[in-house]
Amino acid sequence: MSFGKVITLSNGQPIPQIGLGTWLSKPHEVENAVEIAVRHGYRHLDLARIYENQDEVGRALKKVIPEVVKREDLFITSKLWNSSHRKELVEKELDETLGQLGLTYLDLYLIHWPVAFQPGRGLFPTRDDKIDLDTETSLVETWEAMIALLKTGKVKAIGVSNFTKEHIQGIVDATGVWPAVNQIEAHLLLPQDDLVAYCKEHNVHITAYSPLGNNVFGKPKLTDYPEVQAIAQKLGATTAQVLIAWGVYRGYSVIPKSVQQERIVSNFKQVELSAEDYEALSAIGKRDPTRFNTPYLYTPQWDINIFNESQEVSATTKPKVK
Ligand SMILES: NC(=O)c1ccc[n+]([C@@H]2O[C@H](COP(=O)([O-])OP(=O)(O)OC[C@H]3O[C@@H](n4cnc5c(N)ncnc54)[C@H](OP(=O)(O)O)[C@@H]3O)[C@@H](O)[C@H]2O)c1
Repeated sequence: MSFGKVITLSNGQPIPQIGLGTWLSKPHEVENAVEIAVRHGYRHLDLARIYENQDEVGRALKKVIPEVVKREDLFITSKLWNSSHRKELVEKELDETLGQLGLTYLDLYLIHWPVAFQPGRGLFPTRDDKIDLDTETSLVETWEAMIALLKTGKVKAIGVSNFTKEHIQGIVDATGVWPAVNQIEAHLLLPQDDLVAYCKEHNVHITAYSPLGNNVFGKPKLTDYPEVQAIAQKLGATTAQVLIAWGVYRGYSVIPKSVQQERIVSNFKQVELSAEDYEALSAIGKRDPTRFNTPYLYTPQWDINIFNESQEVSATTKPKVK
């Protein structure tokens, strides 16, 4: 069985290039999905406290470790949620995640968003129909608590997610510690060339989320674009395989989510794109640039301008870096 390509992180740890995403994988679906994925060669799982399904992922892990894999052969990522950014809450939430998963360590722990919520009032605290943001706790404070986790042995690497260049530069200027990974939305319609180049220059590995464009935001699916379908037909591949191959061609890791056996299995089978196919696919994003995941547009709204996208400019706050 092929386990796919592996990339080396700045700390020397190998990260498998294709992983299984688990956002919106419902209870009763995700246990099965994780088990199928590992039995078919996936060695990289992308999890998060906020997906509220880690208990079930933990049940799947019990089925596959050690019967199918050794713990050390899996690369398991999870993420610190926004309501635990205060320094005294960071290790506590990590312990909760490890307890849900039945694990003693994670391979990678990420700050999920450069956004802090008021703690102690659930995962989505609200005030006046909006998310109640914590505008006091800085990203530097949270990053310092993440750095402290490295000494506990409970995480092998730390990183960030949804961070811009400015957010990364701010935490590094204050601490001297670079994140091993920045997990960002990246697909045909959002190549994020500047951010990818900055991360490459500083040896920050990119993990691309929503590689298929997701389909919860009511926008056309990337699998429906005629150019994607034409290249898939030419290669005898699925449209999803073409979209995943586009991310793989760019050299970062890609974490498609599925809870359907056939898709989980086929998404992991890699197809090679020619330079010409890669360019043809990239042209779609130049014509139709789209970011799907902008929390300012969520209900309840996060009144914060994270990415400086035009839809966010009327937000009244920005991430507090230091
Ligand atoms: N850091 C962050 O803030 C962040 C944000 C978003 C996502 N993520 C991570 O990235 C992962 C992937 O992103 P995502 O879940 O947003 O979106 P995605 O992987 O781009 O797309 C998932 C959607 O595509 C469908 N799909 C999967 N395989 C398919 C195939 N072969 N053909 C057609 N449709 C297919 C899935 O449905 P079925 O399940 O029914 O197959 C699901 O509806 C997440 O699960 C999560 O782990 C992280």
